[in-house]
Amino acid sequence: MSSREQQAHDFVVVASRLPVDRIEDPDGGTAWRTSPGGLVTALEPVMREAGGVWVGWSGDSGPPPGAFEADGLDLVGLGLSETEVRHFYEGFCNATLWPLYHDVIASPQFHRRWWEAYVTVNRRFAEAAAEQAAPGATVWVHDYQLQLVPRMLREQRDDVRIGFFNHIPFPGYEIFAQLPWRRQVVEGLLGADLLGFQRRADATNFLRACRRAVGLITRGSAVRAGNREIHAAAFPISIDAKGLGEIARRDDVRKRSQQICDALGEPGPVPVLLGVDRLDYTKGILHRLRAYGELVAGGRLGPRPVLIQVASPSRERVEAYQTLRDEVEVMVGRINGEHGEVGYAPVHYLHQSYPREEMAALYLAADVMLVTPLRDGMNLVAKEYVACRNDENGTLVLSEFTGAADELAGAFLVNPHDIEGLKDTIVRAANTGPAEARRRMRAMRKRVREHDVARWAASFLDSLHGAPGADQPAWEPEAS
Ligand code: G6P
Repeated sequence: MSSREQQAHDFVVVASRLPVDRIEDPDGGTAWRTSPGGLVTALEPVMREAGGVWVGWSGDSGPPPGAFEADGLDLVGLGLSETEVRHFYEGFCNATLWPLYHDVIASPQFHRRWWEAYVTVNRRFAEAAAEQAAPGATVWVHDYQLQLVPRMLREQRDDVRIGFFNHIPFPGYEIFAQLPWRRQVVEGLLGADLLGFQRRADATNFLRACRRAVGLITRGSAVRAGNREIHAAAFPISIDAKGLGEIARRDDVRKRSQQICDALGEPGPVPVLLGVDRLDYTKGILHRLRAYGELVAGGRLGPRPVLIQVASPSRERVEAYQTLRDEVEVMVGRINGEHGEVGYAPVHYLHQSYPREEMAALYLAADVMLVTPLRDGMNLVAKEYVACRNDENGTLVLSEFTGAADELAGAFLVNPHDIEGLKDTIVRAANTGPAEARRRMRAMRKRVREHDVARWAASFLDSLHGAPGADQPAWEPEAS
């Protein structure tokens, strides 16, 4: 058997990261544990059924782990050199594309060396996918780090069906057009048969980029490139709502939640506000802290309100993230310094990551959840909060600029740039009567329960398999 036949998989997931964490095994060696994220939960059953494999980066510049198995899943770990980590991951992915795709909240940097690393690393992923895919396999490529993979893969393997899902926003053309390599990126994506985006607006922005950057003709959700027809549509991602709801029901988790409330002081401070984010400038943490600090100063949340802000460490070697961390920590220090007392801090700031159980306990302890990004493809924290609230209590303040805002009608929507509006909305959410809070929470829980991550994956894959692909009869475009 050739190596391709030995490694033939009918389903190949290609994502920048592997769905596993490296852990120390008892003999001091390396072991891997599947990380319980939504994507792997959704794709695991599909992978098992189809004999799937997951191609991804191990997350450091150590030697590539190659092919291995973890918790019964077949994985192929690719390596990046130290220079590639700087130029591809920290540079082009996180200092060029990330700010550009999030409405230039931070200034994107354009460097030709970073672009070259992006091309090289994308080729490595495409080659690994080509090696793993069986004849006629389905390959699902994920996110902005790998936008060139669909085309590179198609050039090697025209027999496979390729889907691509963009987890972050796709910007309006005036912003996207800044990218010196805009044409190559669009052409890279168009190697796929189906392109999935979080919101309709993202798909529309992409179709516009096809017309403006490459001069292609689009009709409805379709774009014609040579003899191929590619579709671009919205598939809003979700979470494993049932699994998380079950964790939140567990006695140990409920007990932990009570401990958290007790630790905040007796009699309990009213209300408890919660923010949970990667420490990222897109998340609007500074705007949130400004609004909260002013509310504390003005006494509008009662005598001793508490904000728990979990800010998990992220991309710590990228300059904009270091600056943000300093700014957040200065602001937290200022609020606590000016309004705290011995035994009372208005902000509990946690620069740490926690397991799902601890997160569920925090969600249960929160009276008001603050999800106020300046721009966010979806925001799964909002959905996690809702999924955990089996008690149907708690309110959600949600930025209009998240994908989740299109779905969670029971949230208090807010423009996070409008500090006065943000303050008023937080006060309203904190003072919502129990009947109204329940009505809102029920509506949101229904949505999240019915549109979970399994349904998201199934709907994307069904559309991919139904996608027309190559050699469609010519069609008349709509005026665009
Ligand atoms: C976002 C992106 C993911 C990315 C994650 C963590 O959710 O959509 O593709 O993996 O952030 O970022 P990191 O840079 O640590 O992979």
